[in-house]
Amino acid sequence: MCMRNALIAIALAVLANPVFAQGLGKHISESDVAAWDISILPDGTGLPAGNGTPQQGATVFASKCAVCHGENGKGATAAALVGGEPLTSGIETAKTVANFWPYATTLFDFTRRAMPWPRPRTLTNDEVYALTAFILAQNKIIGAEDVMNAQSLPKVRMPNRDGFIPRFPERIP
Ligand code: HEC
Repeated sequence: MCMRNALIAIALAVLANPVFAQGLGKHISESDVAAWDISILPDGTGLPAGNGTPQQGATVFASKCAVCHGENGKGATAAALVGGEPLTSGIETAKTVANFWPYATTLFDFTRRAMPWPRPRTLTNDEVYALTAFILAQNKIIGAEDVMNAQSLPKVRMPNRDGFIPRFPERIP
């Protein structure tokens, strides 16, 4: 048998195997997908139930975030989460939550999926709302008493909300 026919024979034998006949892998359920489908859209779509205040966030921040982001988010080994020069100061200006991020809802999404850096996805939704509230309040974007939840967070207007020029404006709802 020449090499080509041998390969075809092997391929046919493999495909005829019942394991392959059933297809590889297995179907996953909606609830399996839901556990990973955690994206929050700019308008707040996807935000879970729960709430938190800046004061509650301050406590969580001190114990789970300050080690890298500095006391009250002023920056340490990891980026400052408070303050930031206006982006008009030059191309090298560090981009921060306050001077760059266009949507407050992204702060919830990012914190929930990625922080704290060594243990992502360990925070409760209430903790994430509280941390989001704390960072926004430290930046004076919301008041010190404002409660953040699925209704209030999308209404927060970020300072750089209009600082982006959409490449395809017609695709923006
Ligand atoms: C072990 C260090 C560490 C800890 C603890 C930590 N972070 Fe971070 N954080 C980082 C690093 C590193 C980055 C940059 C990640 C990247 O660029 O992908 C970051 C990025 C961020 C950003 C994005 C900043 C920006 O302007 O791009 C936010 C917001 C943030 N962290 C919030 C938090 C919060 C809230 C906590 C506490 C729950 C926390 N982090 C705990 C290391 C840490």
